[in-house]
Amino acid sequence: PRPILLTRHGESLDNVRGRIGGDNVLSDTGDIYAKKLANFVEKRLKSERAASIWTSTLQRTIITASPIAGFPKIQWRALDEINAGVCDGMTYEEIKKNMPDEYDSRKKDKLRYRYPRGESYLDVIQRLEPVIIELERQRAPVVVISHQAVLRALYAYFADRPLKEIPHIEVPLHTIIEIQMGVTGVQEKRYKLMD
Ligand code: G3H
Repeated sequence: PRPILLTRHGESLDNVRGRIGGDNVLSDTGDIYAKKLANFVEKRLKSERAASIWTSTLQRTIITASPIAGFPKIQWRALDEINAGVCDGMTYEEIKKNMPDEYDSRKKDKLRYRYPRGESYLDVIQRLEPVIIELERQRAPVVVISHQAVLRALYAYFADRPLKEIPHIEVPLHTIIEIQMGVTGVQEKRYKLMD
């Protein structure tokens, strides 16, 4: 069995302000998580010479990966956060106040709702297909550092969760979800690295 480690980027300045999307750097807390994650990964994958670290192309995941030494890092555009289109950079409060119809449509069907000039969860699930094929093909461990919406979809695939649950799965910050694929099926462990 070989593990796949899933984690969100460390807390970003937009997370602190409650803004969705963007391409911001980490908060001080997020930087601390990046160091703890590096420690964890270096110990957990010590003798795993062929392991690799996959990030999105957004700087909050690249910065989160940066303290990890000894493994190749690969950037995937397909691991970028759900594109919130015209709502990128807004808070949920602002969307509710300024675009109440959009807010309501999303609430009614979060899986299918597509942000104007952006994506839906179904779009994200579709663009993840090549990533999933490559993850399945890997024989060595992979650390995936990505974003909440994307990790919900990846996690659901490996944990065999139904499509309709995907937009509501909890993927907390500063927590590693380890998935082990063995002959007996899939096993899961969670490591919370910060309080
Ligand atoms: O920035 C987007 C979030 O990571 C996804 O959250 O789909 O629950 O609004 P949401």
